[in-house]
Amino acid sequence: MVLPPCAQEPTLTHGGPSALALTRMPGQAFAFCLLGPGLRNLRPMRVLTGIQPSGALHLGNYFGAMLPAIGLQEQGEACYFIADYHSMTSLTDAAKRRQYTMDVALDWLAAGLNPDRCVFWKQSDTPEHTELAWLLSTVTPMGLLERCHSYKDKVAKLADGDLGAVNHGLFAYPVLMAADILLYDTQVVPVGKDQKQHLEVTRDIALKFNHLYGETFVVPEPRIQESVAVVPGTDGQKMSKSYGNTLELSGDEKALRKRVMSIQMDSRSPAEPKPDADRNIAIQLLRLVAAPEVAADWETRLRAGGLGYGDLKKGLFEEYWKHFAGFRERRAALAARPDEVRDILKAGAVKARAKAQKTLARARQACGLD
Ligand code: TRP
Repeated sequence: MVLPPCAQEPTLTHGGPSALALTRMPGQAFAFCLLGPGLRNLRPMRVLTGIQPSGALHLGNYFGAMLPAIGLQEQGEACYFIADYHSMTSLTDAAKRRQYTMDVALDWLAAGLNPDRCVFWKQSDTPEHTELAWLLSTVTPMGLLERCHSYKDKVAKLADGDLGAVNHGLFAYPVLMAADILLYDTQVVPVGKDQKQHLEVTRDIALKFNHLYGETFVVPEPRIQESVAVVPGTDGQKMSKSYGNTLELSGDEKALRKRVMSIQMDSRSPAEPKPDADRNIAIQLLRLVAAPEVAADWETRLRAGGLGYGDLKKGLFEEYWKHFAGFRERRAALAARPDEVRDILKAGAVKARAKAQKTLARARQACGLD
């Protein structure tokens, strides 16, 4: 994939008073967005999302989160960070955190994230997040956090409800997430459905702080990605690391081939026509990774009968391997220069930090710390 040349420097640190912010939503006409006093600024829509460093990314992450986010970097001022502070609530292996952080950076850069068109950095390089999280935690009702599914589900799984087994970071996770979002005057947060409640918490916290201390934060809008293709895993359920049904983006050819060949099929004989060919997992995956006419051709052959599942899966593997050839090449090239990747993240953090410091100063001023 050829990346577009850098057309403009990110305007993250630009300011200037103006009554309205002009925002452009994808696929829509221009929309006007009124911002609070002190925040008025003529600028493109600010989009922000955090990426958990949780190991090798798979096809579900790619089509569900990465491609939409990469598309958004062309439409607004995009801020993407690796949420390494958040990962500490569930991962306590330092070497793994370092490795996963590098893996995520490599995957996103290889997939087309362009550091000239967005701000890409590592959360812990902007420690302002933790200070703002403290300020916000003092206006966050306990009940709001107790109602969060992510926390409730963890507690529900504990033997005897032993709260000693959950850490405070997990409970306070949504407050840190609110700080991530509010620090950058974020307007739009593209996330999956599982994060919707966290965004509602962010909005509640921002409104409460603004109410107590005066207009300080932009109240962000969630953009829930409903229309994104649900990518089936090897067992037909939604592809997810927790189901163990993933197909990784990068990895050894033999291992990936084995994963593709393990995709579940039914026991009908090859000769039998398959009128439900469109629901076949391999066909659905082919539609994502192959040219439309190629996927349609496989589907027609499966429908007609006479095509064995083994041949279908071999065909899928070839297309899958071909589809990610450029990705693998770019990833390998970047992986050979880890210092360059770290430099990209450091440069992103410098830009992010300038903005974060301004917002934090505003918040400190508002609540009488300065
Ligand atoms: N909680 C998000 C997830 O698990 C990651 C995240 C952290 C995030 N901070 C954020 C997402 C801020 C959006 C905005 O996927």
